[in-house]
Amino acid sequence: MSDAEQKDQERRLAWFRRARFGMFIHWGLYAQLGRHEWVMNRERIPVEAYEKLADTWQPKPNAARDWAKLAKAAGMRYMVMTTKHHEGFCLFDSELTDYNAVKRSPGRDLVAEYVAAARAEGLRVGFYYSLLDWHHPDGARCANDEAARRRFVEYTHGMVRELCTNYGKLDIIWYDGGWPLDAEGWESVRLNAMVRELQPDIIINNRSRIDEDFGTPEQHITPEAGGRMWEACMTMNDSWGYTPIDRNWKTAWDVVGMLRRVAAGGGNLLLNIGPLPDGSVPYQCIGVFNEVGQWLAKYGPTIYDATDSMQQEWQTPGAFTRRGSTIYFHCNRWPGSELAIGGLRNKLLAARLFAGPAIDFTQEADRLVLAGLPEVAPDPLATVIELEVAGEPRQELGPGCVLLDEV
Ligand code: GLC
Repeated sequence: MSDAEQKDQERRLAWFRRARFGMFIHWGLYAQLGRHEWVMNRERIPVEAYEKLADTWQPKPNAARDWAKLAKAAGMRYMVMTTKHHEGFCLFDSELTDYNAVKRSPGRDLVAEYVAAARAEGLRVGFYYSLLDWHHPDGARCANDEAARRRFVEYTHGMVRELCTNYGKLDIIWYDGGWPLDAEGWESVRLNAMVRELQPDIIINNRSRIDEDFGTPEQHITPEAGGRMWEACMTMNDSWGYTPIDRNWKTAWDVVGMLRRVAAGGGNLLLNIGPLPDGSVPYQCIGVFNEVGQWLAKYGPTIYDATDSMQQEWQTPGAFTRRGSTIYFHCNRWPGSELAIGGLRNKLLAARLFAGPAIDFTQEADRLVLAGLPEVAPDPLATVIELEVAGEPRQELGPGCVLLDEV
């Protein structure tokens, strides 16, 4: 990448580097079956049978308003919705296929409703678009039939053009399902050049099989190397689409822990909801999102504005984020009135509960003991303790223990 390109990339990424938390929405015909968004493929449902779901889908009007309000209440700063998943059904109006929400049963442009809802809450807008398509006759054939590939690439580029033209300013294009072609087959360089021409400020993920602006670790939180921007996408149970039989729900405690980890690694968390066919949000998500939002209302600065990782060691009661020489210790396993942290290599200048009273401490060699804390965790999701230290924060524990005469 040239210097100018890199500069432009940083300009476009500036909001995203500080966004930290977004809502992913997987919604499509599959919600009616309630068995994961891969149900068509996993159960080998024939296209002709699956297609009928387009004539029975009746989302309630403006469900997206509730999503956007929930996202806002959760402390999220952007949304990304599936405009077309692997099933091939378009939630937007298209001139390239009638297999879309306007021409079939919903009778409305669900993408337009989503965009309006996100904007009304001041949230940034992202479009998920699956390149892979189980419905289009060339969707699989394109792998070994050049004429089919050309037709399918034309179709794909045409749809992305529609999405980038018909909904005003977009913030993210989030490709997925880069099978069965490679970047050359998808003509991704040309595709993304078109996207940028239509949307000069947009950021593009890495799933058109070229790196573009950010990485997308899925179901794990792993920073990218070299300061490259990244966003971890995670489900609330183990499915993206509505799947009530999957009951492995994450808790608010889990989500706050994930936020701490993405913040420490300088990335974002894109947390998914799979709405019901009518667009309602699963109640398991509503409760958790609101709880997380309340927590962020108090502790937000320790997540949104704490972008640097520091060298840190694992320890049972919690872990850090930091900003300059202020360390935020997110204590999510509260040990009682005394909390000891080993291996801190900086002199501690002050300790306090975040936005709260000062804490007494002693620091001997590399053992820091905070005393006189409440017996019970003030915030069970994570109580943040703010530590003001001298110099660049660093924590390092060797393999052994300190002998008293070395102190
Ligand atoms: C995987 C799944 C897809 C889901 C996506 C979200 O690629 O195949 O269903 O939409 O992850 O990142």
